[in-house]
Amino acid sequence: MAIAEDLEISKFLNGRPKQLFIGGKWVDSASGKTFNTLDPSTGEVLAKVAEGDVEDIDRAVLAARRAHNTGIWCDLPPSERAKVLWRAGDLIEERAMEFAQLDSLDNGKPINEMLLFDVPLTAATFRYYAGWVTKLHGETQQTSFPGRYLSYTLRQPIGVVGAIIPWNFPLMMAAWKVAPALACGNPVVLKPAEQTPLSALLLAEILAEADLPPGVFNVVPGFGETAGARLASHPDVDKIAFTGSTAVGKLIARAAAESNLKRVSLELGGKSPNIVFADADIARAASGAFLGIFFNQGQVCTAGSRLYVQEKIYDETVDEVTKMAANVHMGPGIDPMTQMGPLVSEEQMERVLGYIQQGQDEGARLISGGSRATDLGKGYFVKPTVFADVDGSMAIAKEEIFGPVLAAIPFSTEEDLIAKANDSIYGLVAGVWTRDIKRAHRVAHALQAGIVYVNCYNVADPATPWGGHKQSGWGRELGPYALDLYTELKNVIVDIAE
Ligand code: NAI
Ligand code: MG
Repeated sequence: MAIAEDLEISKFLNGRPKQLFIGGKWVDSASGKTFNTLDPSTGEVLAKVAEGDVEDIDRAVLAARRAHNTGIWCDLPPSERAKVLWRAGDLIEERAMEFAQLDSLDNGKPINEMLLFDVPLTAATFRYYAGWVTKLHGETQQTSFPGRYLSYTLRQPIGVVGAIIPWNFPLMMAAWKVAPALACGNPVVLKPAEQTPLSALLLAEILAEADLPPGVFNVVPGFGETAGARLASHPDVDKIAFTGSTAVGKLIARAAAESNLKRVSLELGGKSPNIVFADADIARAASGAFLGIFFNQGQVCTAGSRLYVQEKIYDETVDEVTKMAANVHMGPGIDPMTQMGPLVSEEQMERVLGYIQQGQDEGARLISGGSRATDLGKGYFVKPTVFADVDGSMAIAKEEIFGPVLAAIPFSTEEDLIAKANDSIYGLVAGVWTRDIKRAHRVAHALQAGIVYVNCYNVADPATPWGGHKQSGWGRELGPYALDLYTELKNVIVDIAE
């Protein structure tokens, strides 16, 4: 393992194989098997991790169920539960560098982005939901017979929550599910992505240190088809929260339907339009377009992968973005100078290179990048790639690539633009760049997307809802909206007549 000795995280990495965290204890997998997680900047093994499978998921669900039934978490005074979540936020902040190094090595992402985005947002998410713990309440209803029936609602924990998360923001995706689930009084079984299992294990250590009772948070690393599938179809899991591909989201919905109709929330793929009108501030729009697609190597569900630019400023804007792409400093995520790291895996690199080939075959004009950055060794580096004059019917304009590939498409009128932008099976995010305030709101109103950014892009905050229309998913994470995902509503009707 070629991990620099002086990294803060080296102790965590250089120990024995990482174990599963079940019922408050570190344990081996039932099969004794392990799998390797790689450093995608070199392709070398970063750590060995216990491989959870059906039996391990079953053990973890049982531990969670016991914790729930004994009430060690949900029956605590809300202020005590809030304290645990707030403390988790503090501890994440204290150990920011360890988390940053860990996800940066495991995923390849630039460490500065971890320190400026993922880690602070993770801490903020725990703190935000710490605030909600003491404010969960039902309502009273005015019935048709107020003197006879008193009606009120209770918001109660949903039960055992299974969380299945992807590899693109490993720590932050865990927090977006775990923090609201815990705030609402539920125990959690988390299955991190097989490409990036490590930060979830460090999170388990942190939550234990924050005095979360044993069994309330369990982590079972393993593969999707085995551990993930078992969690989705488990008869004693009450809710699955999933972020990942639309294809797997459909499998999860089916598994839930065929098992116990557990509740499901899905945050899935996107093919988001980033739209620049001729009256926009071109410099800002161009850098918004650049960050919109190349942030996190383009491996972002909200990536602004379709860049629509109004004809009059099309050449100038696309030139500007291309110049920025050509100047990106690529390297291992762990190097603080790096602006763009490798893709997460060889498989992902091959998938992205396949789309680049297809774009060329279908006649799109490649104006920047378009290949692997082989000068960086064996890592899975793909150069930031820009295609111009893309037609809406091409695969690179329709399918989620999940890599650093931008498809620039000219448009003439607002009407023409809206039809093009909405012509997608997805509806996660859209960006609008304009100085015309009426146009900004009019277009935001017309776009089919869960989030519309006006003169900004990829802003995320624990207080604002996150999720999509159409095949981008079900439900909204973050903000007070997530409380609906992690509670059951109970209506109590009382006959109060004498
Ligand atoms: P994926 O959807 O297969 O993986 C996401 C999570 O689901 C992982 O934890 C995985 O282990 C789990 N999983 C996989 N199969 C499962 C199953 N049958 N039952 C239960 N859980 C299962 O995504 P993958 O293969 O890593 O990436 C493929 C494509 O998916 C990407 O190219 C991208 O287009 C999309 N994707 C979208 C994400 C988003 O944030 N919207 C995140 C990751 C991938
Ligand atoms: Mg890895």
